[in-house]
Amino acid sequence: MADLSVKMAGMDFRSCIFNAAGPKDVTLKELETIGASRSAAITMKSCTKEPRQGNEEPRYYALDMGSINSMGLPNLGYKEYVKFPSLLKSFGKPVIASVSGLCLEDNIQILEAFNDSEVSAIELNLSCPNIKGKPQIGYDFAQMDEVLKEALRISKKPMGVKLPPYFDFIHFEEASGILKRRKPAFVSCINSIGNALVIDAEKEAPVIKPKGGFGGLGGAYIKYTALANVRKFYEMIEMPIIGVGGISSGKDAFEFILAGASAVQIGTAFMEEGPMIFGRVHDELASFMARKGYTRLDDFRGRLKQA
Ligand code: DHB
Repeated sequence: MADLSVKMAGMDFRSCIFNAAGPKDVTLKELETIGASRSAAITMKSCTKEPRQGNEEPRYYALDMGSINSMGLPNLGYKEYVKFPSLLKSFGKPVIASVSGLCLEDNIQILEAFNDSEVSAIELNLSCPNIKGKPQIGYDFAQMDEVLKEALRISKKPMGVKLPPYFDFIHFEEASGILKRRKPAFVSCINSIGNALVIDAEKEAPVIKPKGGFGGLGGAYIKYTALANVRKFYEMIEMPIIGVGGISSGKDAFEFILAGASAVQIGTAFMEEGPMIFGRVHDELASFMARKGYTRLDDFRGRLKQA
C-alpha cells in the first residue's frame, strides 16, 4: 500500500491532500466536516481583524471546468479562528490558519493572537484579488518583502505564504529572491488567477456581481499555470511547496508532486464535490503510484523528466 504521508514545516500529515483556504471553511461546523473527512489537514478561511459579510451576491459561479469568485473575505474575524484549533483537536490533524489582514498592522495583531493559540501553522495570504482598492501584495515586491519580514518576526508558528500566480520569469526571480531572504516555512501556490471576467451571453451580463463581474478564476482552467508556478519555485528555492489550482483527481495530484510539490490543496473541486473528494483523490493517487511501482512520494517528487 502506498505511503502518502508527508512531514513538512514541523507538521505530520497523514497524506499530502487537504483543503485549500476558501471554500466551505468559514464556520466551526464546516471545519468539523473537513476534520471528519479524509482531508489530511484543516485549513481555515482567510481571516481579517473584524468579521466581514463579504461582497454582494452572486459572488461565486461554477463553470464547466472551474469557478469564478469574488467573495470579498467573508469570515468571522480572527478572534474566532484563534479559538477553533483547540475545538478541532479531536480530529488529530494539523489546523492551518489563513491570515489576510487588510494592512500590516492588522496582520501583526492577528499573528500575535495566533501565537497563543493551538494552531499548527499559518498561511499568510498575500494574494487575495477581491478586495476593492487593495492590490495583491504578491504583485508588489517591495511590500511583499516588508510584510514577510515583519510577519516572520512576529509569528512563533511555522508560517508559510500563499502567492498569486506569476507569468513572467523575471517575476519568479524577484519573488524567489524575497523567499530566499525571508525563509517562510513553506510556499502555497497558486491563488486564483485574479480579475477574470465571465460573461453570460444570454443575459449580456457578468455572472457575478462584485467589481463589475471581475473575480478570481479557479479550477481546471488554472491547473497549467499552477503547475508552472510549482515547478519554477521548486527549481529556484529550497522550501516545501504546497501546490494548489485545478486539482480534482489523483492524476492531477501526481502531476503536482512530480513538478515538486510536497503536498496539494483542493479548492474549487471541494466546493463542487464536497468532502468525499479528499478520499477519492487519495485513493486515485495511491492507485496511480502503484501502477508506476512507486510506494512513497519521495520516489517521484520533483523528478519531472525532459520532453
Ligand atoms: C478571497 C479570495 C481569495 O482568492 C483569497 O485569497 C482570499 C479571499 C475572497 O474573496 O474571499
